[in-house]
Order: sequence, then C-alpha cells, then structure tokens
Amino acid sequence: MATTIPDELTWPDSFPTRGHGLPPEMFDLLRRERPVARVTFPSGHRAWLVTRRNDITAIGSSRSFSRDLTAPGGQRIAGDDFNSVPGGIFNLDPPAHTTVRRVVQPFFNPAAATALQPVIARAAADLATTLRNGPNPADLHRAYAHPLAATLASDLMRVAPRQRRKIVPRLRSQVDYTTPASTIETSTQWMLDFADEVIDAKTAVYDGTSEPRDPVEALIRDHHRGTVTSEQMHGTVMYLFVTSAEPITGPVSTGVYTLLRHPEQLARVRRDPRLWPTAVAELLRLHHNGMTSMPRVALTDTELHGIPICSGDAVITPWVAATWDPEHFKQPDRFRLDRSAQEDPAITFGTGPHFCLGVNIARIYLETALSTLFEHLPDLTLAAKHEDIAWEPDTYLFTRPVELPVTWS
Ligand code: HEM
Repeated sequence: MATTIPDELTWPDSFPTRGHGLPPEMFDLLRRERPVARVTFPSGHRAWLVTRRNDITAIGSSRSFSRDLTAPGGQRIAGDDFNSVPGGIFNLDPPAHTTVRRVVQPFFNPAAATALQPVIARAAADLATTLRNGPNPADLHRAYAHPLAATLASDLMRVAPRQRRKIVPRLRSQVDYTTPASTIETSTQWMLDFADEVIDAKTAVYDGTSEPRDPVEALIRDHHRGTVTSEQMHGTVMYLFVTSAEPITGPVSTGVYTLLRHPEQLARVRRDPRLWPTAVAELLRLHHNGMTSMPRVALTDTELHGIPICSGDAVITPWVAATWDPEHFKQPDRFRLDRSAQEDPAITFGTGPHFCLGVNIARIYLETALSTLFEHLPDLTLAAKHEDIAWEPDTYLFTRPVELPVTWS
C-alpha cells in the first residue's frame, strides 16, 4: 500500500495497481495530501493531476480549459493517439463542438437509446443461449462481453460486423498507454483511414438530401450543407468508432465479476429488476472510467489549492478519482446498492460540454446485457478464485479482466 508521495511522480510507476480493476491507492493519498500534483507521462510531457471530485467537475465544465490539444507538440500521455486528431468531437471546444454535437445527438438521445433496447436484448439472448449450450466453463469476456459490444457498434454505426472487426486490434494500442509512441501514431492513422473508408462507402449510397439513418450519414449531410468541415466529419467518425464498443466491453465483464462477488446484492437485483439501473451506476462508479481521463489545457493563468496553473499547462482529471472521493461517496471502495441521492455517480460519464454522448445507450446496454445474462444463466459462478483472475494493466484506459472464467450447471 502506498504511504508516501514521491517528490517526482511518474505515470505509471508511481501508481502501483490496487488490482481487481480498482483505481490506484496513490489517488487516495494525493486527494488527501496533494490534490494538485505534477506528474510526468510516458510521452515525457508533464501535467497537473487533480483528484478531488469538486475540482474535477469544475475543470470539466470550465471554459478556461480546452480539449483542443491537436497542435503538433500538444500534450500527450504516450503518443499521438485520438487526442491528436483535429476536428474530432472530443477535441473541439465550443462553439465548433456544439455544432458537431448537435448533428449527431439525435442518434444518442433517450428515444434513440430506447429504440435500440430490443436489438440489444435479442443479441444478448442469442449470445447467452450459445454460451449456455457451449463449452463449460467458458471465458465470459470472449464469449459474451466482447461480441455483444461489437454488435452494438455495428448496429449504431450501420457497418457490417466483418468491417468493424478490422479495427479492434488498432483500438487496443490507442487505449494502452504503454504502447510505443510510433505504434500509437500508426494506429491513429489506421483508424482515420478506416473512417475514410466508411465515409466513402456511405457517400456512395447517400447523397445527403434524405433523412440520415446513422451518425455518419448525419455528418455527411451537414458536411454537404457546409456546417461541418471535412476534418470534423472524419475526426468525429473516427472517434465514434473508438467509443461505440470499447467503453461498454469492460463493464459487462467487471459487472459480472463484481456481482458474483456480492451474491446477496445480486439476489436483491434479481428479485427486483427495477434495481438494475442502480446496480449499473454503482458498478461504473466503482470500476470506470479510465485511470487518467483525457488531458485538458489551461487557457488562462489560474490557481488551485495554492498551486499556480499557468496558461498552456495540461491538467488530468480522472473521473474514477472523482467517484472515489470519500467526501462525496461513503466507503467508496464498497459496492453498495443503497447509496443516497447525494452520492450521484453520474460523474462517471464526465461533466460539461463533453459529458458522455453515449450515456443513454451505455446505461440501457449494460442493464440489458447484465439482466439478460443472469436470466439465461441464473446459477452462473466464477470458475476461478477471484484473486487468481488477471486484470488488464491500469495503463489500459478501459478497465477489465483479461479473461473472466465462469461456469454454470
Ligand atoms: C459505460 C460506458 C461509458 C463510460 C463510462 C463513458 C464515459 C465518458 C466520459 C467520462 C466522457 C467525457 C470525458 C471527458 O470529458 O474527459 C465521455 C465522452 C464521450 N463518450 Fe462516453 N462513456 C461510455 C460509453 C460510451 C458509448 C457507448 C459511446 C458511444 C456510443 C460513448 C461516446 C462518447 C463520446 C462521443 C464522447 C465525447 C463527447 C463529446 O466530446 O462531446 N461513450 N464518455
């Protein structure tokens, strides 16, 4: 257990893992003793790491911090990953960000998410049935969590699953901060080429005049109208492919792992399925999202807890540090279904203009994926001691076990 804070913090060495997909103890120590801490990342760049919930929400919502780090030499964690792509929705500041977000928003609003629910439920039921009839024990991640998320991404973006599968190996190097910078750069280019391919294929059959059927067509239409630039269209399509499967793959595996380790709470949710939204919110609060978050850069000189943050300085605001702040979440290391209304876990999805675009879909998806699995395999258990289950390193943006061995009778 970390008890002292080194003078020079480096990522990831100064942040030894707590294991089990939980954030490093160093976050707790920093939150108490050094809430604004200088950290050096594998890229060699330095940033201020902020670990208190109120500071994190304030920075996420503030116009004094920019998400545009696309200029050459801009802040990087390990290399030129998707933060370096000009025009991508995530890398834009208002007002350009507001324009692009409005174009794609209809495909992510509550009604669109509700319309996807039966599609997700059918795919989940099919996969759960195949799992039950297949080899026992099995790796839940490979047999269920991964293929189900890939189905959603293909449905949402309306691309053939075969086409989408091509990008999966590239995604991994984008979100693992131990990948060499040259590999990250190649995979970013590869992802952009993939976005071009999808845009070209859709442009061949969609002229931008009829009602768009997916976010890519919406961007094509607004590009034709002159409201979205070519860079914004390409960058945003690429970003939508990064986000539409990776962030929901891990939570199914971590969700099953955590629920199986808390059988009384699982039994409660199964007795009263109205508790699934609470269970999903608490699972996400505990395990997600990412140990680092995306960097932001200060646009003006400011000060936080007596530390001067100068214009141009980068800031890192891990959302999982916010959802583990004991000032706001009692016993943050516990999985609890009885949190009060004040212990609002929505911060898992960020704050401010970049608040997760996929929040409605992610919630409905996870509630459906987990409830369907436990309906089909009510006596599911872990097929290994939980201590023996290996986790992806904390340097991996999306937490999850490497494999999740499960069994049933
Ligand atoms: C449980 C799963 C998910 C979690 C925990 C999550 C979390 C987040 C967070 C924290 C942010 C803001 C980051 C920041 O401002 O630094 C974000 C942004 C975003 N998320 Fe999610 N996300 C999830 C699922 C999804 C899904 C399924 C999609 C797409 C279908 C998606 C699409 C996006 C997009 C496009 C943005 C950028 C929005 C913008 O820049 O306006 N997310 N997400």
